[in-house]
Amino acid sequence: MSYENIEVRTEGGQVGIITLNRPKALNALNGPLMDELGTALKAFDEDEAIGCIIITGSEKAFAAGADIAAMAKFNFHEVYKNDFITRNWETIRSIRKPVIAAVSGFALGGGCELAMMCDFIIAADNAKFGQPEIKIGIIPGAGGTQRLPRAMGKSKAMDLVLTGRMMDAQEAERGGLVSRVVPLDKLMDEALGAALMICGYGRLSVMAAKESVNRAFESGLSDGVMFERRIFHGLFATADQKEGMDAFLNKRAPKFIHG
Ligand code: HXC
Repeated sequence: MSYENIEVRTEGGQVGIITLNRPKALNALNGPLMDELGTALKAFDEDEAIGCIIITGSEKAFAAGADIAAMAKFNFHEVYKNDFITRNWETIRSIRKPVIAAVSGFALGGGCELAMMCDFIIAADNAKFGQPEIKIGIIPGAGGTQRLPRAMGKSKAMDLVLTGRMMDAQEAERGGLVSRVVPLDKLMDEALGAALMICGYGRLSVMAAKESVNRAFESGLSDGVMFERRIFHGLFATADQKEGMDAFLNKRAPKFIHG
Protein backbone atom coordinates (compact mmCIF):
# COMPACT_ATOMS: atom_id res chain seq x y z
CA MET A 1 0.00 0.00 0.00
CA SER A 2 1.43 3.38 -0.90
CA TYR A 3 0.49 6.54 0.95
CA GLU A 4 0.81 10.22 0.09
CA ASN A 5 0.34 11.87 3.49
CA ILE A 6 1.96 9.39 5.84
CA GLU A 7 4.96 7.08 5.85
CA VAL A 8 4.64 3.59 7.22
CA ARG A 9 7.38 1.21 8.33
CA THR A 10 8.05 -1.49 10.87
CA GLU A 11 10.88 -1.83 13.36
CA GLY A 12 12.20 -5.15 14.59
CA GLY A 13 9.32 -6.81 12.75
CA GLN A 14 7.08 -6.02 15.72
CA VAL A 15 6.51 -2.28 15.99
CA GLY A 16 4.44 -0.44 13.40
CA ILE A 17 5.53 3.16 12.90
CA ILE A 18 3.33 5.74 11.19
CA THR A 19 4.92 9.11 10.40
CA LEU A 20 2.61 11.98 9.49
CA ASN A 21 4.08 13.54 6.39
CA ARG A 22 2.69 16.84 5.13
CA PRO A 23 5.79 18.91 5.96
CA LYS A 24 4.79 22.03 4.02
CA ALA A 25 1.67 22.42 6.16
CA LEU A 26 3.27 21.27 9.44
CA ASN A 27 1.36 17.99 9.13
CA ALA A 28 -2.02 19.74 9.15
CA LEU A 29 -4.69 17.04 9.22
CA ASN A 30 -7.02 16.78 6.24
CA GLY A 31 -9.45 14.11 5.05
CA PRO A 32 -6.99 12.16 2.89
CA LEU A 33 -4.36 12.09 5.65
CA MET A 34 -6.87 10.89 8.22
CA ASP A 35 -8.18 8.22 5.82
CA GLU A 36 -4.64 6.97 5.26
CA LEU A 37 -3.92 7.02 8.98
CA GLY A 38 -7.04 4.96 9.66
CA THR A 39 -6.13 2.45 6.95
CA ALA A 40 -2.56 2.08 8.23
CA LEU A 41 -3.70 1.71 11.85
CA LYS A 42 -6.20 -0.99 10.93
CA ALA A 43 -3.60 -2.85 8.85
CA PHE A 44 -1.16 -2.90 11.79
CA ASP A 45 -3.93 -3.92 14.19
CA GLU A 46 -4.75 -6.91 11.98
CA ASP A 47 -1.10 -7.89 11.42
CA GLU A 48 -0.25 -10.79 13.74
CA ALA A 49 3.44 -9.82 13.81
CA ILE A 50 2.80 -6.31 15.16
CA GLY A 51 2.52 -5.81 18.92
CA CYS A 52 2.55 -2.03 19.27
CA ILE A 53 2.10 1.04 17.07
CA ILE A 54 3.80 4.45 17.20
CA ILE A 55 2.41 7.59 15.59
CA THR A 56 4.90 10.40 15.12
CA GLY A 57 5.49 13.51 13.03
CA SER A 58 8.48 15.67 12.16
CA GLU A 59 10.89 17.45 14.48
CA LYS A 60 9.01 20.70 13.88
CA ALA A 61 5.46 19.38 14.07
CA PHE A 62 3.58 16.35 15.23
CA ALA A 63 0.56 18.07 13.67
CA ALA A 64 -0.38 21.77 13.73
CA GLY A 65 -4.07 20.98 13.72
CA ALA A 66 -6.81 20.37 11.22
CA ASP A 67 -6.07 21.92 7.84
CA ILE A 68 -7.34 25.49 8.13
CA ALA A 69 -7.06 26.04 4.37
CA ALA A 70 -9.41 23.11 3.81
CA MET A 71 -11.76 24.13 6.61
CA ALA A 72 -12.01 27.81 5.80
CA LYS A 73 -14.46 27.38 2.96
CA PHE A 74 -16.78 24.89 4.64
CA ASN A 75 -20.26 25.85 5.74
CA PHE A 76 -22.47 24.22 8.37
CA HIS A 77 -24.19 21.90 5.89
CA GLU A 78 -20.92 20.45 4.68
CA VAL A 79 -19.28 19.88 8.05
CA TYR A 80 -22.47 18.42 9.51
CA LYS A 81 -23.27 16.18 6.53
CA ASN A 82 -19.70 14.87 6.26
CA ASP A 83 -19.18 14.73 10.04
CA PHE A 84 -16.01 16.72 9.42
CA ILE A 85 -13.30 15.55 10.39
CA THR A 86 -14.32 13.15 13.05
CA ARG A 87 -15.61 10.32 10.85
CA ASN A 88 -12.01 9.17 10.36
CA TRP A 89 -10.92 9.73 13.94
CA GLU A 90 -13.08 7.04 15.43
CA THR A 91 -10.82 4.45 13.76
CA ILE A 92 -8.06 5.22 16.26
CA ARG A 93 -10.35 4.45 19.17
CA SER A 94 -11.11 1.02 17.73
CA ILE A 95 -7.46 -0.09 17.57
CA ARG A 96 -6.90 -2.79 20.18
CA LYS A 97 -3.12 -2.85 20.24
CA PRO A 98 -1.30 -0.06 22.12
CA VAL A 99 -0.73 3.16 20.19
CA ILE A 100 2.02 5.49 21.43
CA ALA A 101 2.22 9.13 20.31
CA ALA A 102 5.85 10.26 19.93
CA VAL A 103 5.46 14.03 19.81
CA SER A 104 8.03 16.63 18.82
CA GLY A 105 7.28 20.21 17.85
CA PHE A 106 3.72 21.49 17.54
CA ALA A 107 0.78 19.34 18.62
CA LEU A 108 -2.00 21.87 18.27
CA GLY A 109 -5.76 21.67 17.84
CA GLY A 110 -6.54 18.42 16.06
CA GLY A 111 -2.87 17.48 16.48
CA CYS A 112 -3.18 17.64 20.25
CA GLU A 113 -6.48 15.76 20.02
CA LEU A 114 -4.87 13.07 17.88
CA ALA A 115 -2.05 12.66 20.42
CA MET A 116 -4.63 12.43 23.22
CA MET A 117 -6.44 9.64 21.39
CA CYS A 118 -3.27 7.56 21.52
CA ASP A 119 -2.74 5.43 24.62
CA PHE A 120 0.11 7.51 25.97
CA ILE A 121 2.26 10.39 24.86
CA ILE A 122 6.05 10.54 24.95
CA ALA A 123 7.18 14.10 24.22
CA ALA A 124 10.43 15.59 23.02
CA ASP A 125 11.63 18.58 25.00
CA ASN A 126 10.70 20.88 22.10
CA ALA A 127 7.04 19.75 22.04
CA LYS A 128 4.31 22.35 22.32
CA PHE A 129 0.71 21.42 23.02
CA GLY A 130 -2.40 23.53 22.74
CA GLN A 131 -6.00 23.91 21.65
CA PRO A 132 -5.85 27.24 19.78
CA GLU A 133 -9.20 26.83 17.96
CA ILE A 134 -10.70 29.75 19.90
CA LYS A 135 -8.36 32.06 17.97
CA ILE A 136 -10.02 31.14 14.68
CA GLY A 137 -13.63 31.31 15.80
CA ILE A 138 -14.28 27.65 16.61
CA ILE A 139 -13.73 25.20 19.47
CA PRO A 140 -11.93 21.84 19.55
CA GLY A 141 -13.96 19.32 17.56
CA ALA A 142 -12.21 15.98 17.96
CA GLY A 143 -12.49 15.49 21.70
CA GLY A 144 -10.24 18.27 23.03
CA THR A 145 -12.81 19.72 25.42
CA GLN A 146 -13.43 16.21 26.81
CA ARG A 147 -10.03 14.53 26.89
CA LEU A 148 -8.00 17.52 28.07
CA PRO A 149 -9.98 17.96 31.32
CA ARG A 150 -9.84 14.21 31.90
CA ALA A 151 -6.07 14.28 31.44
CA MET A 152 -5.20 17.55 33.19
CA GLY A 153 -8.22 18.69 35.20
CA LYS A 154 -10.73 21.45 34.61
CA SER A 155 -8.64 24.51 35.41
CA LYS A 156 -5.76 23.69 33.06
CA ALA A 157 -8.15 22.57 30.32
CA MET A 158 -10.23 25.73 30.59
CA ASP A 159 -7.08 27.86 30.58
CA LEU A 160 -5.78 26.20 27.41
CA VAL A 161 -9.10 26.02 25.55
CA LEU A 162 -10.21 29.57 26.44
CA THR A 163 -6.90 31.37 25.93
CA GLY A 164 -5.61 29.22 23.08
CA ARG A 165 -2.10 29.44 24.52
CA MET A 166 0.53 26.78 24.00
CA MET A 167 2.15 24.82 26.81
CA ASP A 168 5.59 23.30 26.65
CA ALA A 169 6.47 19.66 27.23
CA GLN A 170 7.40 20.20 30.89
CA GLU A 171 4.06 21.81 31.68
CA ALA A 172 2.29 19.00 29.80
CA GLU A 173 4.17 16.40 31.81
CA ARG A 174 3.54 18.16 35.13
CA GLY A 175 -0.15 18.25 34.32
CA GLY A 176 -0.32 14.57 33.39
CA LEU A 177 -0.95 14.90 29.67
CA VAL A 178 2.43 13.45 28.80
CA SER A 179 3.98 10.36 30.36
CA ARG A 180 7.65 11.20 29.70
CA VAL A 181 9.74 14.06 28.30
CA VAL A 182 13.03 13.24 26.60
CA PRO A 183 15.63 15.17 24.59
CA LEU A 184 14.55 15.58 20.97
CA ASP A 185 17.29 13.32 19.61
CA LYS A 186 16.20 10.52 21.96
CA LEU A 187 12.47 10.66 21.16
CA MET A 188 12.23 7.73 18.75
CA ASP A 189 14.65 5.59 20.79
CA GLU A 190 12.51 6.14 23.85
CA ALA A 191 9.24 5.43 22.04
CA LEU A 192 10.71 2.35 20.36
CA GLY A 193 12.11 1.11 23.67
CA ALA A 194 8.66 1.36 25.24
CA ALA A 195 7.02 -0.26 22.21
CA LEU A 196 9.47 -3.18 22.14
CA MET A 197 9.03 -3.69 25.86
CA ILE A 198 5.26 -3.92 25.36
CA CYS A 199 5.76 -6.31 22.40
CA GLY A 200 7.70 -8.62 24.74
CA TYR A 201 4.67 -9.18 26.99
CA GLY A 202 1.73 -11.49 26.33
CA ARG A 203 -0.44 -9.97 23.62
CA LEU A 204 -3.71 -10.86 25.32
CA SER A 205 -2.73 -9.28 28.62
CA VAL A 206 -1.50 -6.16 26.81
CA MET A 207 -4.78 -5.79 24.94
CA ALA A 208 -6.73 -6.50 28.12
CA ALA A 209 -4.72 -3.89 30.05
CA LYS A 210 -5.45 -1.26 27.40
CA GLU A 211 -9.13 -2.14 27.34
CA SER A 212 -9.38 -1.99 31.10
CA VAL A 213 -7.58 1.35 31.54
CA ASN A 214 -9.76 2.85 28.80
CA ARG A 215 -12.82 1.65 30.69
CA ALA A 216 -11.92 4.08 33.46
CA PHE A 217 -12.96 6.90 31.14
CA GLU A 218 -16.27 5.32 30.20
CA SER A 219 -17.67 4.05 33.50
CA GLY A 220 -18.15 4.70 37.21
CA LEU A 221 -15.66 3.23 39.70
CA SER A 222 -17.71 0.15 40.72
CA ASP A 223 -18.49 -0.80 37.11
CA GLY A 224 -14.89 -0.19 36.08
CA VAL A 225 -13.48 -2.28 38.92
CA MET A 226 -15.90 -5.11 38.10
CA PHE A 227 -14.92 -4.91 34.42
CA GLU A 228 -11.27 -5.13 35.40
CA ARG A 229 -11.91 -8.08 37.71
CA ARG A 230 -13.69 -10.10 35.03
CA ILE A 231 -10.91 -9.48 32.52
CA PHE A 232 -8.35 -10.32 35.21
CA HIS A 233 -10.18 -13.59 35.85
CA GLY A 234 -10.27 -14.31 32.12
CA LEU A 235 -6.51 -14.07 31.80
CA PHE A 236 -6.18 -17.14 34.02
CA ALA A 237 -7.48 -19.10 31.01
CA THR A 238 -4.42 -18.13 28.93
CA ALA A 239 -1.18 -19.96 28.32
CA ASP A 240 0.71 -16.71 28.90
CA GLN A 241 -0.52 -16.50 32.51
CA LYS A 242 0.80 -20.02 33.15
CA GLU A 243 4.07 -19.20 31.39
CA GLY A 244 4.57 -15.81 33.09
CA MET A 245 4.04 -17.14 36.59
CA ASP A 246 6.03 -20.33 36.01
CA ALA A 247 8.90 -18.30 34.62
CA PHE A 248 8.88 -16.04 37.67
CA LEU A 249 8.83 -18.95 40.11
CA ASN A 250 11.65 -20.71 38.26
CA LYS A 251 13.72 -17.54 37.95
CA ARG A 252 13.84 -17.61 34.15
CA ALA A 253 12.73 -15.24 31.40
CA PRO A 254 9.18 -15.93 30.16
CA LYS A 255 8.51 -17.03 26.59
CA PHE A 256 5.05 -15.73 25.83
CA ILE A 257 3.17 -17.31 22.96
CA HIS A 258 0.51 -14.59 22.83
CA GLY A 259 -2.16 -17.10 23.60
C1 HXC B 1 -3.13 24.56 7.41
C2 HXC B 1 -1.13 25.19 8.31
C3 HXC B 1 -1.59 24.88 9.61
C4 HXC B 1 -2.94 24.39 9.74
C5 HXC B 1 0.43 25.60 9.78
N1 HXC B 1 0.13 25.61 8.47
N2 HXC B 1 -0.61 25.15 10.50
N3 HXC B 1 -1.89 25.02 7.22
N4 HXC B 1 -3.66 24.25 8.61
N5 HXC B 1 -3.45 24.03 10.93
C6 HXC B 1 0.98 26.04 7.36
C7 HXC B 1 1.15 27.55 7.31
O1 HXC B 1 0.05 28.16 6.68
C8 HXC B 1 2.43 27.68 6.51
O2 HXC B 1 2.12 27.49 5.15
C9 HXC B 1 3.23 26.47 6.98
O3 HXC B 1 2.28 25.53 7.54
C10 HXC B 1 4.24 26.83 8.05
O4 HXC B 1 3.56 27.50 9.07
P1 HXC B 1 4.02 28.91 9.68
O5 HXC B 1 2.84 29.54 10.31
O6 HXC B 1 4.77 29.70 8.66
O7 HXC B 1 5.08 28.43 10.77
P2 HXC B 1 5.46 29.12 12.16
O8 HXC B 1 5.59 30.60 11.99
O9 HXC B 1 6.59 28.34 12.69
O10 HXC B 1 4.17 28.89 13.10
C11 HXC B 1 3.83 27.59 13.46
C12 HXC B 1 2.42 27.59 14.12
C13 HXC B 1 1.41 28.26 13.15
C14 HXC B 1 2.45 28.34 15.43
C15 HXC B 1 2.06 26.13 14.37
O11 HXC B 1 1.55 27.66 11.85
C16 HXC B 1 -0.01 28.13 13.57
O12 HXC B 1 -0.48 28.83 14.44
N6 HXC B 1 -0.76 27.22 12.91
C17 HXC B 1 -2.17 27.05 13.14
C18 HXC B 1 -2.40 26.30 14.43
C19 HXC B 1 -3.87 26.12 14.70
O13 HXC B 1 -4.65 27.08 14.79
N7 HXC B 1 -4.32 24.87 14.82
C20 HXC B 1 -5.69 24.53 15.08
C21 HXC B 1 -6.45 24.38 13.78
S1 HXC B 1 -8.16 24.11 14.04
P3 HXC B 1 2.76 28.46 4.04
O14 HXC B 1 2.15 27.96 2.76
O15 HXC B 1 2.39 29.85 4.40
O16 HXC B 1 4.24 28.21 4.13
C22 HXC B 1 -8.26 22.48 14.49
C23 HXC B 1 -9.64 21.98 14.72
C24 HXC B 1 -9.66 20.51 14.89
O17 HXC B 1 -7.30 21.81 14.59
C25 HXC B 1 -11.06 20.01 14.77
C26 HXC B 1 -11.11 18.55 14.44
C27 HXC B 1 -12.48 18.12 14.00
